[in-house]
Amino acid sequence: MSQIIVSGEKKLEGTVRISGAKNAALPILAATVMIDEPVVIRNVPELRDINTMLSILQKIGKKVTFEHGVVQIEPGEILLGNVPYDLVGKMRASFNLFGPLVMACGWARVGKPGGCNIGQRPVDYHVEGLKRFGLKIVEEHGDVFGEIPAEFDSHVEYELPFKSVGATEQLMTTASLMEDSEIVIKNAAEEPEIVDLQNFLNKAGANVSGAGTDTIRIRGVKKLHGSEYSVIPDRIEAGTYLLAGVITRGNVIVENVIPDHLKALLDTLKKMGAEVTVSDNTVRVEVLNKLKPVKVSAEPYPGFPTDLQPIITAVLSTIEGDSIVEELVFENRFGYVDEMNRMGAHIKVKDRRAHIKGTRKLSGAEISAPDIRAAAALVIAGMAAEGETIVHNAGHIFRGYEKLKEKFNSIGAYLRVYPDEE
Ligand code: UD1
Repeated sequence: MSQIIVSGEKKLEGTVRISGAKNAALPILAATVMIDEPVVIRNVPELRDINTMLSILQKIGKKVTFEHGVVQIEPGEILLGNVPYDLVGKMRASFNLFGPLVMACGWARVGKPGGCNIGQRPVDYHVEGLKRFGLKIVEEHGDVFGEIPAEFDSHVEYELPFKSVGATEQLMTTASLMEDSEIVIKNAAEEPEIVDLQNFLNKAGANVSGAGTDTIRIRGVKKLHGSEYSVIPDRIEAGTYLLAGVITRGNVIVENVIPDHLKALLDTLKKMGAEVTVSDNTVRVEVLNKLKPVKVSAEPYPGFPTDLQPIITAVLSTIEGDSIVEELVFENRFGYVDEMNRMGAHIKVKDRRAHIKGTRKLSGAEISAPDIRAAAALVIAGMAAEGETIVHNAGHIFRGYEKLKEKFNSIGAYLRVYPDEE
């Protein structure tokens, strides 16, 4: 089990170059199973979750190489429609292969993902939507089995019960090969990663419009073609470095970002009293004055991102006064709060709200990370705390942060990782 040892009372200062977005790359990689020509994807971060997706693609028959952030995928001799649970179990996003594989192979059998540390995370919206599109789906022995129908309806509308990112991605990708059908997805998630997926699909010859709004229209085409595509920068990674700058009362610049994608975070930082400077593709955050407590609500985009919720909570726990952080996406995303409290934070969770009584100083402690973003929150809390913090079970973090130790240490942190994973 990995451990990250964090030296406290560091002030972060400097520039960090942000990697490609994991959550944009994963659904794009899943969509490539529908393309039987060579595909090149650039700006892909070298992360555990990406490697999991690539090894699944290889196991089901694709030829894959991954070097210097460039993934090249070529069709193999056969494509298998089978993704067993031991692979899906490692990463929920592999369920995004289900619809695309049904379209590519005529059928697919994919293990149904289980719950995880931040909530139940069912896939009922994915399955319900695909059924409405005409796919024949049965769930048996823990797997989801799907088959292509003899014919698709010429017009289908499906309204998602909640703005689910994964379901929106799965449905728009699958629909793009439903030849001659027009599909409308309502109450769609609006995240930038969905716009990126639309851009990728359209570059491959699909006809998708509306991503970034709550209504997405897809006109199914007969075939998708090989293409080259570059993934957008990771707004969650960028947000993490900016928040690390704030918790250490430092001065951090993130470069290679799309500042628009960070709007909810930057608005919050301004309300807290941090100095925010935005240019074309960089954002700088500096703390010059005493910071103020705020109320934050984690919601679907364009709201404050749930993936930064644990990290902003860590920051607010170091700002004197009463802050509130509300979580409206996942039912159980406060699993790290007891660990923060071991570091001297005063956080009480009631229903979906964390009530934070800010304290000026946290103290280093031995703690354990329940999930990837919680791990990031605990690590940055350690940078601001007095003394040393040992984050156990920290391996989660390498699912989402490329060259974490190198990037943080280059701007003044001192992290040691055992065993060294980078
Ligand atoms: C994606 C992101 C994740 C982020 C989340 C919300 C990837 C790989 N992961 O996850 O980092 O935290 O969006 O921004 O992109 N739900 C259902 N039934 C479904 C689908 C979802 O009840 O069929 C619920 C979930 O349990 C959750 C909520 O809807 O409470 C939102 O989940 P969703 O947006 O689908 O998250 P993911 O796509 O899994």
